[in-house]
Amino acid sequence: MRPFVYVTRKVPDEIYDRLAAKYDVEMWTESDKAVPRDILLEKAAKANALLTVISDAVDEDLFSQADQLKVVANMAVGFDNIDLDAASRHGVSICNTPDVLTDTTADLTFALLLATARRVTEAAEFVKYGQWTSWAPMMLVGTDVHHKKIGIVGMGKIGTAVAKRAAGFDMEILYHNRNRHEVAEEMLGAQYRTFDELLTEADFVVCLAPLNEDTRGLFQREHFQKMKDSAIFINASRGPIINEQSLIEALEANEIAAAGLDVFDKEPIDASHPFLTMKNVVALPHIGSASTETRMAMMGTCCDNIEAVFEDRPPKTLVNK
Ligand code: DGY
Repeated sequence: MRPFVYVTRKVPDEIYDRLAAKYDVEMWTESDKAVPRDILLEKAAKANALLTVISDAVDEDLFSQADQLKVVANMAVGFDNIDLDAASRHGVSICNTPDVLTDTTADLTFALLLATARRVTEAAEFVKYGQWTSWAPMMLVGTDVHHKKIGIVGMGKIGTAVAKRAAGFDMEILYHNRNRHEVAEEMLGAQYRTFDELLTEADFVVCLAPLNEDTRGLFQREHFQKMKDSAIFINASRGPIINEQSLIEALEANEIAAAGLDVFDKEPIDASHPFLTMKNVVALPHIGSASTETRMAMMGTCCDNIEAVFEDRPPKTLVNK
């Protein structure tokens, strides 16, 4: 009997056909909606492999009903949607998609930083809604990015790729990380700072740390208060690293100047979310890795990992070793 693979989002034909050539495949096909929990559990109970995305909760409840499950290929570098301990207890391999998305996510992070500093989305709406009546010296002025200080919290692969881009803008690069990053220090002149030092010194504080028990709720009101009044805060990793209410209050109290956010506590955010009424917030729908090339490569990595497990080879990007 061929293994059964359940794919929790609509994927392009090329990916579906690649899997269907070897396995029995079913897929959730409503592209604008997440697979409902009861359907995910029902399919997982029969599946030998799951191809999941970050909004699927893959937890003890799921594993305990999925006796045949051998591998979960999660289409993301992050795997905070998966209970790794439970997966290991149930003997399920968990794989992610690192590397292929590093540069694409760094590009988006830098685009968000530029857009927030130079008020790009606000300016585009200004033109679109017919408000541009003349050129004026101080119309829609933002703040410079070049020659400023960027403070990167989480100097992993994406953090380092953002630092490379910042070096091209002649920025001074500060970083905070669990471990010193000697390569970034030598190649890019990146300077290590404690968390508090980074917050007080940086013009742009960029969060790229992974979400785990050490980083959940890392940014509280006091941390925004430590930043310069002119600081711009960027988050392109995971929403729950920030206490969202604290960020709203810090923006309302002008304790920082602006925020560029690709990720939120609860995604998608409601149309009534306070961020959406703030002119100094650029909010994006979690599109860090969203280029055609990268999304195809991420799905390709998921297929590689599923194939490896069924062919008794070590998966390329196993997370629960
Ligand atoms: C990731 O890979 O973890 C992103 O957040 C999803 O693209």
